[in-house]
Amino acid sequence: MFSKISILTGYDKKGQAEAVEYLEINAGEIYSIVGFTGSGKTQLISDIEQMAQGDSVTGRRILIDGKAPEYTVRYNPESKLVAQLSQNMNFALEMPVRDFLIMHAESRGLEVSENLIEEIMKTANSLAGERIEDTDILTRLSGGQSRALMIADVAIISNSPIILVDEIENAGIDRRKAMDVLTRKGKIVLIVTHDPQLALIGSKRIVMSNGGIADIVALSDEEVIAERMINSITEMLFVAQNKIRSGQSIQLSELTFPEAL
Ligand SMILES: Nc1ncnc2c1ncn2[C@@H]1O[C@H](COP(=O)(O)OP(=O)(O)O)[C@@H](O)[C@H]1O
Ligand SMILES: [Mg+2]
Repeated sequence: MFSKISILTGYDKKGQAEAVEYLEINAGEIYSIVGFTGSGKTQLISDIEQMAQGDSVTGRRILIDGKAPEYTVRYNPESKLVAQLSQNMNFALEMPVRDFLIMHAESRGLEVSENLIEEIMKTANSLAGERIEDTDILTRLSGGQSRALMIADVAIISNSPIILVDEIENAGIDRRKAMDVLTRKGKIVLIVTHDPQLALIGSKRIVMSNGGIADIVALSDEEVIAERMINSITEMLFVAQNKIRSGQSIQLSELTFPEAL
């Protein structure tokens, strides 16, 4: 579809030029966006989502394959170049999950089959704790269930080439698995996160400060090992959490130590 997006940077909150002048992200690359609260992470996501052309507070410009996107791409909601997931998203529709999925798939020109619906439900249920039935009414899903369904929907129906994820830390879903679902096949994925487990999925980290891109940090060899250790620890926490949730006792033999330790 396209091979890269470029960010021509603008100005930070003080009106100073951003420290990084130019950033190119290729199809298939995963970047995380890090920085303290108020440092401009959501603004960067929003500039990309809107395909800003110097018309946002930052003055950034976003290019696709070196060119400003056409008006139709920028303003046509059907072009769906970008899919965004954020913490506070919930479904506002009073309809069963199944009807929504059929409606959405048809609107995207997909052939709706029993297999397609099944695949989405299976994916959503692999992320959510409490099982989602296709007869459940959307507005009655929990926050975690809504997010799980949205992620499955974005991954399987929308299939947008650019995926932006803004702080899904406390979303009540298996975040690591969610990233696996979203980062399949040649997509550009940008993840805003404070969570080392998610931040280290990216090959590079965009460091935000004072509203500007302050630095780009590449994942180091040591961090590749650190990532494995952090994943094992998270896995251990997950096992313990599930034991407690389901009313059982934790057994020491079930807690395995990080492989790299
Ligand atoms: N370069 C900038 N120039 C002016 N305002 C900015 C800039 N970057 C961010 N802001 C504004 O600063 C506020 C905090 O930014 P935000 O992106 O929400 O931070 P974060 O998501 O890191 O907590 C927002 O109102 C945002 O629009
Ligand atoms: Mg934010």
